[in-house]
Amino acid sequence: MTEELRETLNRVEVRTGEHRTIKSYVLRSNTLDEKQEECVQKYYEKYGVRFVDRLTDPSSLFVHPEKPVVIEIGFGMGTSTIQIARERSEYNYLGLEVYLQGYVKLLRMIGEEELDNIRIMRFNAVDVLERMIPDGSIQGFHIFFPDPWPKKKHHKRRIIQSDFVSLLARKLRKGGYIYLVTDWEEYAEWMMDIISQEKLLANRFDGFASPSDWRPMTKFERKGLDKDYKINELMFERI
Ligand SMILES: C[S@@+](CC[C@H](N)C(=O)[O-])C[C@H]1O[C@@H](n2cnc3c(N)ncnc32)[C@H](O)[C@@H]1O
Repeated sequence: MTEELRETLNRVEVRTGEHRTIKSYVLRSNTLDEKQEECVQKYYEKYGVRFVDRLTDPSSLFVHPEKPVVIEIGFGMGTSTIQIARERSEYNYLGLEVYLQGYVKLLRMIGEEELDNIRIMRFNAVDVLERMIPDGSIQGFHIFFPDPWPKKKHHKRRIIQSDFVSLLARKLRKGGYIYLVTDWEEYAEWMMDIISQEKLLANRFDGFASPSDWRPMTKFERKGLDKDYKINELMFERI
């Protein structure tokens, strides 16, 4: 892996000195083994996207720019991402994740399948949305099992906050959607409360959403179900 690529991959956020924002994630190891480095070298230029601090037309990142773009925030190991991209190929998908092992895993899967409707970035989603994605350019957001930060003193680290929801709403086209799923009941109520207050969004359902038949089950969901946690889904639309 070239030094430039290593540096690109290792930079995951815009540092603004005194204005460093609260983060919804904890960074784990940046170490890759030889096979993972080979994978990055082989597939990054085709399927990876570099952060740039200027607005970019997200459609221009894809082979078929006429397809609407859906952004997934925090794809984890990318298991549902790849399946959704394969099965709902009428959309382009831009995946955002800071977890390096998951990033490389999904990069490998995309490369091996040669899917042309997914591109992925290893970067803080908040920075990407604030600085790189133009308003009104996105068809949908998927946020599946975001870290619940269950302790009260950590609630400020939850990604769903009113400012962030306003940011998501601004990035959506009219008729676009935000689809969230969580197995943490109190976080589900928190999401419902915050998102319902956003004037640019309307709930597509009366309360929590009915499960969609196209969202595959992930490891997090299975673990939650094993502990008898209730899965709650939310689907809001940009009006
Ligand atoms: C609990 S995991 C869920 C992963 C996956 N969606 C699933 O359902 O299996 C949440 C993921 O969100 C990622 N994440 C949290 N905040 C993020 C941010 N600001 N930008 C990008 N990724 C973020 C974390 O690194 C983590 O992998």
